[in-house]
Amino acid sequence: MRSSSVLRTAAIAGAALFGYAAVIERNWFALRRCEVPVLPPGARPLRVLHISDTHLTPGRHRLLSFLRTLDSLDPDLVVNTGDSIAHEHAVRPFLDALGPLLDRPGIFVFGSNDLYSPELKNPARYIWRTSADEHRRHVPDLPWAELGDSLEAAGWMNASNRRGRIKVGDADVEVAGVHDSHISRDRYDRIAGPADPAADLRLAVMHSPEPAVMDRFVSDGFDLLLAGHTHGGQVCLPGWGTLVTNCGLEPARARGLSQHPSGAGPGRRAFLHVSAGLGTSPRAPIRFACRPEATLLTLVPRIG
Ligand SMILES: [Fe+2]
Repeated sequence: MRSSSVLRTAAIAGAALFGYAAVIERNWFALRRCEVPVLPPGARPLRVLHISDTHLTPGRHRLLSFLRTLDSLDPDLVVNTGDSIAHEHAVRPFLDALGPLLDRPGIFVFGSNDLYSPELKNPARYIWRTSADEHRRHVPDLPWAELGDSLEAAGWMNASNRRGRIKVGDADVEVAGVHDSHISRDRYDRIAGPADPAADLRLAVMHSPEPAVMDRFVSDGFDLLLAGHTHGGQVCLPGWGTLVTNCGLEPARARGLSQHPSGAGPGRRAFLHVSAGLGTSPRAPIRFACRPEATLLTLVPRIG
């Protein structure tokens, strides 16, 4: 084959792959389900809807439509692990799409992209550079406060560097969370301390699953850690999986359920669920071998 033909074939294949990643897979939403044995013996199962990283811009109609379907899962609790918006006018469409989910018990934390609008960059740049480098701006330019106030007005708990207690059905849930460690806004010392062993569930919520932060949650006795941020790698290699996590977490745990040990030594472990997220930055609008997702976690009694 002549070299010009090879180049033409490679260009066509590249354009087809990009088109698939930008148009088809980016809008091919998946609902994942998994069971987590984390409740006391005999407890009634709890359905927890975990959403993350919607990075919403007002024109993402398919994403908004998918969000509107999630209330039909009848979750007992909704947890949103941040990076919800990517546009100054995204708060209202985000709230409208959540709709009746806002009437359910809910918890949220902020991610860096709730504060700072996306900047123009090479979409593949995150593979070799952490996006923390991009958050050198110090004055947020997105309506994160409006987003937080609206969610709190609906009754959701803002767990960004906060700790509290909520009732989910009959269950007494202790909740602690941090703001985004990816931009050094986490303040664990404000929420540090042993979790209450009498609570039915000890739940930790964060945007970035930084191992050092998770070590502290596990050492304090939290049973279930929920995070987002990684996008599951966003562009993955078929047959291999995640290439990068954009944080200190290893690629094998970039999405789905795993366990996290206590940094204090052997013994205690907690379940970790990382959502691959529902969106992408508008500046890197592709997904490959890593569909956008929401997850319904069914919490059931511990084994043994
Ligand atoms: Fe994100």
